[in-house]
Amino acid sequence: MEPKFYKQTRIERIQTLIQEGFLNEKQAELFIDNPLLDDAVANSLIENQVTQFPLPLGVARNFKIDGQKMTIPMVVEEPSVIAACSNAAKIMKTKGFSTNIKKREMIGQIILKEIPDLEIAKQAILDQRETIFKLAEESHPSIVSRGGGLKDISVRLIEQTHLSHSFLTIHLMVDVKDAMGANIINTILEGVTPFILELTTGASLMSILSNYNTECLVTATCCVPFSELTTSDFSGYDIAKKIVEANTYAKLDPYRAATHNKGIMNGIDSVVIATGNDPRAVEAGAHAYASRHGQYEAMTNWEISKDCLIGELTLPMAVGSVGGAISVLPMAKVSLDMLNVSSSEELARVVMCVGLAQNFAALKALVTVGIQKGHMNLHASSLAIQVGAKDEEIAILTKLLRKEAKMNSMVAKELLEKIRS
Ligand code: MEV
Repeated sequence: MEPKFYKQTRIERIQTLIQEGFLNEKQAELFIDNPLLDDAVANSLIENQVTQFPLPLGVARNFKIDGQKMTIPMVVEEPSVIAACSNAAKIMKTKGFSTNIKKREMIGQIILKEIPDLEIAKQAILDQRETIFKLAEESHPSIVSRGGGLKDISVRLIEQTHLSHSFLTIHLMVDVKDAMGANIINTILEGVTPFILELTTGASLMSILSNYNTECLVTATCCVPFSELTTSDFSGYDIAKKIVEANTYAKLDPYRAATHNKGIMNGIDSVVIATGNDPRAVEAGAHAYASRHGQYEAMTNWEISKDCLIGELTLPMAVGSVGGAISVLPMAKVSLDMLNVSSSEELARVVMCVGLAQNFAALKALVTVGIQKGHMNLHASSLAIQVGAKDEEIAILTKLLRKEAKMNSMVAKELLEKIRS
């Protein structure tokens, strides 16, 4: 019988992915040869490029998302992230994850200052909606021809009365189709801003997209029957109850919320990076959303319903599936092919399910065996490499380290010497 995926060699895993239809031969070659980025591509992406910085790409297994089986590429340097995520997805294999997206629009902000009368200016803008729509279309006709473009306008008054600071901010809600959208938004903002300035007789502070993508919310949910949570030491109901309690705590205490959410972002960022998207933009939006009630809190909700633990994660998720770095990074293209997603919305659904799975895995470990057990197991192989183990020595030393009560570099070095002698 073929060894389990995680026990296969790297080449065997690639062969398995070919057999399962997640990779084709050409993509596999790219994985096998592991070429660095073409220099021209690297140079076109950033300034002052001197070299490249490889990170491991692994795959999370066992996912079922909206009824579809998925293997998910993740780029991450932290041991245990992918193992934990795959394990969570395995526990949820029967029912899988469900997702929901109401709409996908990005927000561009035009921020004005020195407005003589805020209310009059606000009304003037709302009265000129049609002209603003026309200008937006003229500044980026191709996005309109693809069914996107400006969809709505809103006006906000931002005032800090004691310092007599007041601003008038116009939000342009733009459908950017499958792109990340920064260029589209900024082009439309440039096209519209001069008219807005004329209308309001104010001065421009700035025009820029907002990463707080509240018009682009994506929800992932899962329902885990207690029976699938049971371990040899804990009943499924007890684990479910503790997970709910852990989540409640993270809603109340920002110190815990930051760590709780970091675990979610472990999964989210890994997929975002693997698909050539911008993790900084996603992080900024996610943390802003986690503070929307006035205090930074847990991004997830967990509750018990009859015989199930129900999890929910809603965040702004403005990832793209075309354009920008996505289209020039060959590995990002392979990741998107492997996911078999045909739109940015489908990608956003996957990203959110990975975040929820990651949180489930972390909470389950934390309220049962503790996080260190799993972490240390995986830490063993990093430690083996750190102390100089080579080739087959790595696996032997890792195995020995896992049996040690204390796992540190001194112990690792001593064991390595023993292996070599
Ligand atoms: C570690 O990278 C992530 C965790 O700390 C998340 C959490 O505490 O929920 C395990």
